[in-house]
Amino acid sequence: MAKGKNAVVFFCQECGYESSKWMGQCPGCRQWNTFVEESVPVRAAGGSSPSGQTKNRPSPLSEISLEEEDRISTRMSELDRVLGGGLVAGSLTLVGGDPGIGKSTLLLQVCRNLAEDEKEVLYVSGEESLKQIKIRANRIGDFNAHLKLLCETSLDSIEENIRRTGPDVVVIDSIQTMYRESVSSAPGSVTQVREATSVLLQLAKGLNISIFIVGHVTKEGTVAGPRVLEHMVDTVLYFEGDRHASYRILRGVKNRFGSTNEIGVFEMESAGLKEVLNPSEFMLSGKPEDANGSIVVCSMEGTRPMLIEVQALVCHSNFGIPRRQTIGTDFNRVNLLIAVLEKRLGLSLGSCDAYVNIAGGIKIQEPAIDLGIAMAVVSSFKNKTIDNKLIAIGEVGLSGEVRGVSMIQARIQEAAKLGFTTCVIPYVCMESVKEVAGIKVIGVKSVKEAIQLL
Ligand code: TYD
Ligand code: MG
Repeated sequence: MAKGKNAVVFFCQECGYESSKWMGQCPGCRQWNTFVEESVPVRAAGGSSPSGQTKNRPSPLSEISLEEEDRISTRMSELDRVLGGGLVAGSLTLVGGDPGIGKSTLLLQVCRNLAEDEKEVLYVSGEESLKQIKIRANRIGDFNAHLKLLCETSLDSIEENIRRTGPDVVVIDSIQTMYRESVSSAPGSVTQVREATSVLLQLAKGLNISIFIVGHVTKEGTVAGPRVLEHMVDTVLYFEGDRHASYRILRGVKNRFGSTNEIGVFEMESAGLKEVLNPSEFMLSGKPEDANGSIVVCSMEGTRPMLIEVQALVCHSNFGIPRRQTIGTDFNRVNLLIAVLEKRLGLSLGSCDAYVNIAGGIKIQEPAIDLGIAMAVVSSFKNKTIDNKLIAIGEVGLSGEVRGVSMIQARIQEAAKLGFTTCVIPYVCMESVKEVAGIKVIGVKSVKEAIQLL
């Protein structure tokens, strides 16, 4: 790196947009007043490659061999699934999430498992003291000597440590606390975070170390400040969930080594995070029996079906304008479904308030829950209970037709596994469905047909 000269650049602290002059509104993310002056070191052209070597020769693709043991199991099957089958050696993984959601706990547990498998693990914390980490560790369980802790925020010192000890896995607990002395901006600023990540990227690729980076999330739901971070790493995982509910969902947003959209479900207990191997059962616990306005639907999270309860409450509106509210699903979609029910089924919902809730605090956007929402709304409106053992799957179109959904077989099997006896699905999917023991499958062409089943 060329020494001495620093250039002054303005960065949007929300999205990392770079500009040579200050601006009131960021052209990148349209946020106001987010530009901060930072000085970046002027570099000599060139730089080094991600593999850490300065001179690289092209190699024939056919001769590059992949060994099976390139993937390490974290011994948490939920995490392995989200990572695409285990941790890849030499990968850089970003774990984002709100403060207090359990990122440090999760990674400490991963460290313990890996250390038990005789991997050398280094946990670097820039946020907590050794004692604080020890207190958390005591709640989680026993740790062996393969796990080393380091409380440090200077990247130069961390880099030196990593190069000297050569660990297999490194955790950097929070990228926002790390700083590099040669960069004059404050820790957490775009320049620092970007610089820190590029140093870690080179360490990961050059020394074949798997590195986890913890990143805090802003209230908009992106990793604080720089979204640039997401472009640099191999895998981005978000840890989400209601802080007040005990379950947590780990979601893959980007994965260079596997599919995204996979989720892992965990539960926060007094001794750390526990994997929830059967999330459907977990989500349906506490479902009321014989209550009207409640129905079970099935949503796919990646390749995994998940049964969820949808609740609706429809009551007479006391004001001229009916109130509509949704929790856990798209507001506009629910409004649209209510309009379809009004027009195609002739229900006078115009004078009614309607509330729709996805139980368990989970958020579902998949259109396959449309039919369930529509049936729940009608059930509440007509005060008719829906059979406890019935599940509804299907997307609803504007003409009131029930449209096909993907992976219908997996959804029906999940329903059968949890003891449901009737499954209402789109008629167009009937052909592709194979018989599943213990569950009756009914194909419907329209919402009207589905409502007649109530
Ligand atoms: P933490 O991992 O510190 O969150 P983050 O690193 O994402 O900021 O998690 C902290 C929360 O988890 C805290 O509110 C206490 C709770 N917790 C438990 O409920 N059980 C436990 O065994 C541990 C270690 C933490
Ligand atoms: Mg933490």
